[in-house]
Amino acid sequence: MSNQAELDDYKQQIADWYSRRSSNYDNGDWHPRIAHRLVEYAQLRSGQQVLDIATGTGLVAIEAAQIVGDEGKVIGIDISTGMLEQARRKVKELQLSNVEFHLADAEALSFPANSFDCVFCSSALIWMSDLLASLRLWHHFLKPGGLLGFHAFADRAFVGGVVARKVLAKYGVSLLFNQPTGNVEKCRNLLQTAGFKAIDIQSEEDSSYISLEQAKGIWSNGLYPVPGQFPNPLLQLSPEKLAQARSEFDAELEALQTEQGIWNDITIFYAFGRKAA
Ligand SMILES: C[S@@+](CC[C@H](N)C(=O)[O-])C[C@H]1O[C@@H](n2cnc3c(N)ncnc32)[C@H](O)[C@@H]1O
Repeated sequence: MSNQAELDDYKQQIADWYSRRSSNYDNGDWHPRIAHRLVEYAQLRSGQQVLDIATGTGLVAIEAAQIVGDEGKVIGIDISTGMLEQARRKVKELQLSNVEFHLADAEALSFPANSFDCVFCSSALIWMSDLLASLRLWHHFLKPGGLLGFHAFADRAFVGGVVARKVLAKYGVSLLFNQPTGNVEKCRNLLQTAGFKAIDIQSEEDSSYISLEQAKGIWSNGLYPVPGQFPNPLLQLSPEKLAQARSEFDAELEALQTEQGIWNDITIFYAFGRKAA
């Protein structure tokens, strides 16, 4: 596999954005915890071949590599050079020889059919331009009986995102965010339509109170680039309308504040399906 990816403007924007964030992506236990749960649910075995789609800093790939051992192999792919640099640095530190990383677009991969026992996509499915086509492509790479697992957030997750969607809808701006995978049925339908069998979706909650600052952070940190939408739909708004929407967003969040902070629902789905045996 060549270490080059031809990216359209949407994907280049995502790649650059994650590269800018790459050095502190692993800070805190949030991403590692989700990656760990996804791997844990998959019950990998020694000797298996694993593909980690949109591997980022390699959280899933590295844990998988430690489980499948020297008899097995893990390939992680991502479009962000910065994220892959972090992944490679960690693998070197851990002296793992059964995992490799490639710069590649998850929607334009060309592995032979029936190559992997397990394909993962953690915290990244909604970044794909075409979720269904992506799942179909990844299904093709699985061996018969092989397992695909992705992680996604519910549509009600992240209070800042929910309030931003609601406010912006009044301005004629529709943000998708987690809508395509926003509930168990949507995850199930995607997997079923892409040809997966034995579908199993685990729902978990990681909700807590957060500060007003954190809740507001999504506007400045999270709205650019927007998953599945390019160009960013906010660019439709004039600077005046945008400022007006921003102050409504701030006011709505301030109204939700309690002594403990703002309740932030984080419902997480761990969705799995198998290729027919
Ligand atoms: C939230 S991070 C998740 C990283 C990792 N899977 C994890 O669980 O920590 C999303 C990742 O998706 C990658 N990504 C987005 N679109 C992609 C695509 N079309 N192909 C490959 N990687 C992609 C980004 O570069 C970023 O590293």
